[in-house]
Amino acid sequence: MSASATAPQAFDARQFRDTLAQFATGVTIICARASERRFVGFTANSFNSVSLDPPLILWSLARDADCLSALESAQRYTVNVLAAEQVALAHRFSRPHEDRFAGVDYRLGWADAPLIAGCVAWFECRHHSQQVAGDHVLFVGEAVTGERAAGRGLVFHHGRFGTTVALPE
Ligand SMILES: Cc1cc2nc3c(=O)[nH]c(=O)nc-3n(C[C@H](O)[C@H](O)[C@H](O)COP(=O)(O)O)c2cc1C
Repeated sequence: MSASATAPQAFDARQFRDTLAQFATGVTIICARASERRFVGFTANSFNSVSLDPPLILWSLARDADCLSALESAQRYTVNVLAAEQVALAHRFSRPHEDRFAGVDYRLGWADAPLIAGCVAWFECRHHSQQVAGDHVLFVGEAVTGERAAGRGLVFHHGRFGTTVALPE
């Protein structure tokens, strides 16, 4: 059967979101220093790998996000890959909060941005490139260093948080 030449039915925003929701992702918190006394951070599931050599990653941020200007000017930042036990952090960093970092256990590394305790992996990145893509800005970063820990990652699927279950081989 040959492909239809007629225009496909319009794909509205709801259908686009519902179709995307079938794609399970991990969940990260991306952080950077905004000033001497302040960090920014937000929950992101747009994180993904791009290139192995050099090691590049990507993520996107809404153009109306409060933390956009700080992240656009950050030369270094961290990507914290959340563990299954960190749903509360995923909520905190995606909702209005007086101080998202208050009471959060973190340390600073090469990127001078929070490396949050209890995660299953951490990347410290150098800014590589960014471009406006629709209502988001697409960021590509070079992963300069990283670490991982044992544990199950947090997963976002069908608009809900979960974790992985290995299937029998
Ligand atoms: C699981 C999950 C994943 C998200 N992923 C993204 C993302 O990749 N990009 C984005 O712009 N917002 C994403 N958000 C929404 C932001 O975390 C949220 O809008 C946040 O408040 C933005 O930071 P701001 O407070 O500085 O505006 C996600 C939210 C959730 C719950």
